[in-house]
Amino acid sequence: MEKGYKASITGVGSFLPRKVITNDDLTRTLDTTDEWITRRTGIKERRVVEDGVAASDLAIEASLRALDDANVSPSEVDLIVAATITPDCLVPTTACFIQDKIGAKNAGAFDILAACAGFVYALSIAKGFVASGAMKTVLVVGTECLSKITDFTDRSTCILFGDGAGAVVVQRGNGKREIITTYLGSDGSQADLLTLPAGGSKLPASHATIESRSHYIQLKGKELFKTAINNMVDMITKAAAENNMQVEDFDMIVPHQSNIRIIEAAMERLKQPRKKAYVNIDRYGNTSAASIPIALDEIDKGDMLNPGDSVLLVAFGGGLTWGTSFIKW
Ligand code: UT7
Repeated sequence: MEKGYKASITGVGSFLPRKVITNDDLTRTLDTTDEWITRRTGIKERRVVEDGVAASDLAIEASLRALDDANVSPSEVDLIVAATITPDCLVPTTACFIQDKIGAKNAGAFDILAACAGFVYALSIAKGFVASGAMKTVLVVGTECLSKITDFTDRSTCILFGDGAGAVVVQRGNGKREIITTYLGSDGSQADLLTLPAGGSKLPASHATIESRSHYIQLKGKELFKTAINNMVDMITKAAAENNMQVEDFDMIVPHQSNIRIIEAAMERLKQPRKKAYVNIDRYGNTSAASIPIALDEIDKGDMLNPGDSVLLVAFGGGLTWGTSFIKW
């Protein structure tokens, strides 16, 4: 059993850009069909930002909504952790832009880069700080402008991704929405399955990196697909065991939204009804670190859970990285 203070999610918020790109829109420039994208991924449409809008802009809106939901003023925030693979820029951090714009004048701020598992990594950090007593109020944000790192000439990747942001406020436990356990894992030996090769210290930006389109996300979809299913089944089974539960005891599973077939295959392997997994990939595609907090906000505002329900967040992504958070609603 984890020791220390209890840590609860006291507020949830999200923000999606207004502009919608449907599958049919993509067929105008790509050799693809709505039927293929829907059948192979479950995605019907995704949101994208206008030019000039950055990850922090989405995050600020989501954060203010989460703080309002928690009835917490920005000056009460001790720490901002922003999970993103599409920071506004490399220095300063996106969390610092959020800190300034929301007026969190007493907060520390940093970014977490753990791809699609970024939100569960950030939530686990927040739980650690709150549970240890070091901090009282942590704002956790998952925010992505994946359209900015997507190659819209590559039909095997550009159909997948969308933009959006979600945020939660984590505070000392008040008996509601308590984060009971968190689990994190990684396997860097499979780094090549999902990469954005250029723009870092290994391959700094150059004419050559631009010509080779190395500033866009590249993925080995088939390999990732199989690994994602095995990993999700494994993580859900482990999370149940760690909490002395059976998998069927989870009232809802909130998976990272990467592909409907990954979610359905995992549910089938676990012999769980498909509707136990929350799905909104049809409307937003894969929004990486933002997908779980966006889902949480919809679940919260839609009153889809009852107090005391057992909820498991489960994410898997590039790195490879993965993780779970078990929440008693
Ligand atoms: O969030 C982090 C984790 N992300 C993931 O885990 C993503 C996991 N991977 C996937 O979701 C899937 O692998 C994809 C959606 C990326 C691809 O689906 P797939 O069923 O694995 O397709 P595939 O790559 O095996 O391609 C099958 C065929 C190929 O044609 P041939 O070689 O069989 O003639 C592709 O060229 O489908 C073709 N194809 C397309 N056809 C129409 C690939 N993309 C498209 C497209 N429209 N957009």
